[in-house]
Amino acid sequence: MKRISLTQHLVEEQRQHNTIPAELRLLIEVVARACKTISHSVGKGALGDVLGALESENVQGEVQKKLDVISNEILLEANEWGGHLAAMASEEMESIHQIPNRYPKGEYMLLFDPLDGSSNIDVNVSIGTIFSVLKAPEGMANPTEQDFMQPGSKQVAAGYAVYGPQTMLVLTTGNGVNCFTLDREMGSWVLTQRNMQIPVKTKEFAINMSNQRHWHPPVQRYINELLAGTTGPRGTDFNMRWIASMVADVHRILNRGGIFMYPADIRDPSKPGKLRLMYEANPMAFIVEQAGGMATDGKHRIMDIQPEKLHQRVPVFLGSRDEVAVVTGYHHE
Ligand code: AHG
Ligand code: MN
Ligand code: MN
Ligand code: MN
Repeated sequence: MKRISLTQHLVEEQRQHNTIPAELRLLIEVVARACKTISHSVGKGALGDVLGALESENVQGEVQKKLDVISNEILLEANEWGGHLAAMASEEMESIHQIPNRYPKGEYMLLFDPLDGSSNIDVNVSIGTIFSVLKAPEGMANPTEQDFMQPGSKQVAAGYAVYGPQTMLVLTTGNGVNCFTLDREMGSWVLTQRNMQIPVKTKEFAINMSNQRHWHPPVQRYINELLAGTTGPRGTDFNMRWIASMVADVHRILNRGGIFMYPADIRDPSKPGKLRLMYEANPMAFIVEQAGGMATDGKHRIMDIQPEKLHQRVPVFLGSRDEVAVVTGYHHE
């Protein structure tokens, strides 16, 4: 494949689909540059004093890792001055972040999980950054949290960076999914996979099995069928993979298929699963659907959910279309 840069790809996509105004292209390039900076910090590890936890807790009740906060700061500082945003929201910030009045405001709102897979930071396992872009209400200089309460179908762009053996950026603006690999010598993102498509069928599933005793019956039934292998109703053996970094599990699924699940469970109905709708489930659902996959909360399409709270959680079943359809079907019986 002829190597083209992120900028050239976005300009070509704009010419072809006319869905990426210059402001949105600028925003995507700024976020991509911030992910390069985060990748650089991640790569330093112990040599860069970026490992370990802080005393602080975030709004999720999680102890913050140094890199959670460092990554959040990098994204805030990179995006504040550009004039393309009206406001930002993050897993690591309780309320939305307005653009300071000394800077011009733009028409977009950026949401992000600055460092996804925090439990893997200190053990050198792939982690990432997830982002989602919404439009601010017309002429709204200072959007409120309520203005962020838009269903995932309203996203104009979504993507993630995965900081692994390669640093990669996966991106959609609604015209398919493309993947860029960071050329560290040139410091540029290079297009390495066009129009990624998730295999419709799979024999691989991703779930944290240690929660099994807490799952509701439809999930118990579905997982038991997968575990029954050739002797069960599915008549074949399934493999299980669980990296505990959503970006890494989703990246594997984008490349070779699979179904990723983080179900609600019987423990706390107010916290249906662990994953957050606005900056984990929605951006990943947009990407998965654009790659021919499916993403539901067990009953409904994730991107149809009308959000009520910035940090609300949602059960997630996403990946190979046929498998997501089976487990979703069991929730409707
Ligand atoms: P984050 O590190 O941003 O809080 O997200 C972690 C999420 C997600 O990345 C991953 O799929 C899931 O938590 C792992 O959950 P378990 O710790 O239950 O395996
Ligand atoms: Mn996360
Ligand atoms: Mn996070
Ligand atoms: Mn977290």
